[in-house]
Amino acid sequence: MTAPAVPQRLSAPEPGWTDTVDVVVIGSGIAGLTAALKARELGTVLVVTKDVVASGSTQWAQGGIAAALSPEDSPEDHLHDTLVAGAGLCDPDAVRALVTEGPDAVRDLIELGARFDTLADGDLSLTREGGHHRNRIAHAGGDATGAEIERALVAAVKRADDIRLIEHALVIDLLTAADGGVAGVTLHVMGEGQLDGVGAIRSRVVILASGGIGQLYAATTNPSVSTGDGMALALRAGAKVRDLEFVQFHPTVLWLGKSAKGQQPLVSEAVRGEGAFLVDHEGKRFMQGQHELADLAPRDIVAKAIMRQMLATGKDHVYVDARHFGDEKWRVRFPTILASCRSHGIDPVRELIPVAPACHYSSGGVWTDLDGQTSMPGLYACGEVACTGVHGANRLASNSLLEGLVFARRIAAHLADGLPPLRQPVADVRVPGLVDADVVDEVQRVMTVGAGVIRSARGLSEAGATLAKLIEQPAGEPGTPGWEATNLVTVASALIAAATVREESRGSHWREDHPDRDDRNWSGSLDLTLPSEGETARPRTTFVPHDSKENAHHG
Ligand code: SIN
Repeated sequence: MTAPAVPQRLSAPEPGWTDTVDVVVIGSGIAGLTAALKARELGTVLVVTKDVVASGSTQWAQGGIAAALSPEDSPEDHLHDTLVAGAGLCDPDAVRALVTEGPDAVRDLIELGARFDTLADGDLSLTREGGHHRNRIAHAGGDATGAEIERALVAAVKRADDIRLIEHALVIDLLTAADGGVAGVTLHVMGEGQLDGVGAIRSRVVILASGGIGQLYAATTNPSVSTGDGMALALRAGAKVRDLEFVQFHPTVLWLGKSAKGQQPLVSEAVRGEGAFLVDHEGKRFMQGQHELADLAPRDIVAKAIMRQMLATGKDHVYVDARHFGDEKWRVRFPTILASCRSHGIDPVRELIPVAPACHYSSGGVWTDLDGQTSMPGLYACGEVACTGVHGANRLASNSLLEGLVFARRIAAHLADGLPPLRQPVADVRVPGLVDADVVDEVQRVMTVGAGVIRSARGLSEAGATLAKLIEQPAGEPGTPGWEATNLVTVASALIAAATVREESRGSHWREDHPDRDDRNWSGSLDLTLPSEGETARPRTTFVPHDSKENAHHG
């Protein structure tokens, strides 16, 4: 099966207005806002965000931000746990940058105004999550870490009156120059007055920080804005995307019934980090003996164990047991989860919490080097949209906020050596296209069934065939629903291509027809590009062995 062909660029009206800045940042989570705050020292900065500034994934992060901040911990230990979770595919240089620069980056975040939870003596309160051998997760508001970080960053951006912000603006495509570099973006602003409708912003640098792809699946922890826009537009422009087959399913997402769709409430791994455990329908624990860390094994191992349990028993969920926390601990340590369970009629102080895996995080994304540079000159990426090499085949819990923070800072440090010149955009000869906005529910269904937690050649092939039919359905007028649908199918097609080619099971990629990890043949990454084919474009995969020169991110 070849992965379905997708549009070469998005159908959209011609830009009705133009503006010019030095740096455009797409996205307003921890990565985008950190990049904007640092880049403002280098030139004019514009942040473009699809909804309101705080609507992305960062504010939903519960567990926390991992960094070796305790005297009993070390960057070396954090490196070790990250590499083990990544199942042989992390870039050790990227991980080293993360763990050595992480502690200072978190301290700077505190300096900026983020208030993390502390112990009675004023030291940071640090907890544990899956795959960590030390207590190294800093948290805020108990289980509202992302919301507090986002609050502090938004406040800092609002104080910085030289950072321009456009909300309710979807970036459509990249403007490209004759040398293959990026010359700016086209975007659609749902505004009033001068910046309304489709426009073009020319810039010397574009920093993609637009988040993930959770809306590809029927149930996800991601908000509705996570439609893979950044990955899709980067692919269309010719940038390289890596490791897209590694989609992390969070093991413990509140189970709200078979037909629950869209964003689902998370039950943080930190709940297990504080002593909760998984049980089956008989109340029996099933993680003991499966891994030395039992209920706190890396996330892929716990998700697989839950799936096996569900398959063996014919049930569609298992349970987290945290009744022994008692009322006080639930209220102080996990107020968000307590409230969300109670709002769904579950009292975790007295009852088991029903949970099942749901799509959570894309470990792959737009390939970058250690400075956040993509394969396109002038285009940078950080946060979930990027593949820096930090996560490999399975992200270690609470490494994502840290990655967004550290690599946004690295991009700014790199740009401090000099911004590239403003490039002249060339006329776009790519053939425009659009997918019917109404296909999204079906795309989510087929991706969940065929390219979800458990995959096979047959399931992936069926998903690809259905996707190809959906893409051919006549589309409506250009607008955000159609653009998002097109971005989703673009990423879906690329993901199916990579998941089909990788005939092994590793990290969060589980092939029931190739159940073992195969280091002899698959010790490396799959790069995806989107070459034109007639009037459309079709994903192409290239295997990059882990020890090859090309895989050295700074090579
Ligand atoms: C959680 O709190 O369980 C999620 C943390 C993460 O995804 O890193």
